[in-house]
Amino acid sequence: MAEVAYAKGLEGIIAGESAISRIDGQAGRLTYRGFSIEELAEYSDFEEATYLLLYEKLPNSSEMEAFRRTMRASRGISAPIIEMVRSFPIGAHPMELLQSVMAYLSGYVEHRIQHSASCNCRQTLHQVAQIATVVAAYKRLRDGEAFVSPRMDLSHGANFLYMLRGVEPEPYEGEIMDKCLVLHAEHGFNASTFTARVVASTLSTCYSSISAAMGALYGSLHGGANERVMAMVEEIGTKANVGKWVNDALDNHKKIMGMGHREYRVKDPRANTIESMLRTLSEKKGDSRYYDILKEVERVFRARMETSGKPIYPNVDFFSGAVYSLLGIPKQLFTPVFAIARVSGWLAHVLEQRVGNRIFRPESLYTGPEVREYVPIEERE
Ligand SMILES: CC(C)(COP(=O)(O)OP(=O)(O)OC[C@H]1O[C@@H](n2cnc3c(N)ncnc32)[C@H](O)[C@@H]1OP(=O)(O)O)[C@@H](O)C(=O)NCCC(=O)NCCS
Repeated sequence: MAEVAYAKGLEGIIAGESAISRIDGQAGRLTYRGFSIEELAEYSDFEEATYLLLYEKLPNSSEMEAFRRTMRASRGISAPIIEMVRSFPIGAHPMELLQSVMAYLSGYVEHRIQHSASCNCRQTLHQVAQIATVVAAYKRLRDGEAFVSPRMDLSHGANFLYMLRGVEPEPYEGEIMDKCLVLHAEHGFNASTFTARVVASTLSTCYSSISAAMGALYGSLHGGANERVMAMVEEIGTKANVGKWVNDALDNHKKIMGMGHREYRVKDPRANTIESMLRTLSEKKGDSRYYDILKEVERVFRARMETSGKPIYPNVDFFSGAVYSLLGIPKQLFTPVFAIARVSGWLAHVLEQRVGNRIFRPESLYTGPEVREYVPIEERE
């Protein structure tokens, strides 16, 4: 057998081709279809970024208008979905709900899965538009409040906050929420996107691909990290406690959530943008508690890592949880908020996978016993 490359966690292995986003981990650069994440966060919005990911170019005015209209018209969820949200087991995590809703939604559409151009997911945008509504419905129904129908006149981010709160957010809050969605929309062959592509490569539906991706995002080493960053901030409590807390954690070989990244050898460019949004939001709200604690964690952690020769920097999750907390989003919804954004990237990858598709079927390195003889049960010890 020819020699086969092996790296645990597929580190450094090219598993496919993609023209969707590019990560330069050495320089700390990220682009979607060639546009820098900094410019997109500054000038674009989530709907336009979604168009860019799905259609490979920035839209002109009429294309943008038509796309916004379609995506906003798909925001509403049907009565059976609202019922599903209401009756989902109380103890279940909202990511489990999203995974199930995604599979359920599949039943509503006729699947044409042969080629990206004719895929009806791209035409209806159900998945991209409806996850935000499902997450908001989950929060309100769990809190014993009435479901709030989506508004068509608000951006995706502002509408999400509106559906959560039942009142329109301040314009700066809507803008920050929407920019967070832009920053989280796409990030190459990460675990959840790769999962979506593996499922798509079997010629399964967009919905099942995205449902599977939700399961991958749920894990604490991926989408779950920001929830755990905020749990850490709450446990630390004050800036003065940071030094002891971080050093104790590292002495006990614990990982600091929100730090480190497989791809970046410098600070994640998305972390820079979210950090500045957190600073703005903290000033507007007159509450810099989270910002101060996080900056101190970063300082202590980096100093300690540099002395041990492991330069490790904040990733996108390090500051995002604090932004969400200041926007009034509870911790349990942080990973679902990540999913609201990342679904655009997942869909773009599913569609890309189908063009020139080949089913994923890697090999494993066998570590089990050599061939041995079957012993009848009465002769076994
Ligand atoms: C993101 C992450 C999973 C990348 O994993 P990876 O590329 O497999 O890197 P490893 O986990 O093998 O880490 C390499 C080394 O850095 C250390 N390290 C990495 N992240 C660390 C962290 N957050 N805190 C402390 N040490 C860390 C590891 O302990 C390991 O040290 P060792 O070589 O002495 O064993 C990892 O950095 C991590 O678990 N971070 C925390 C979770 C997180 O924030 N996830 C969100 C990602 S966007």
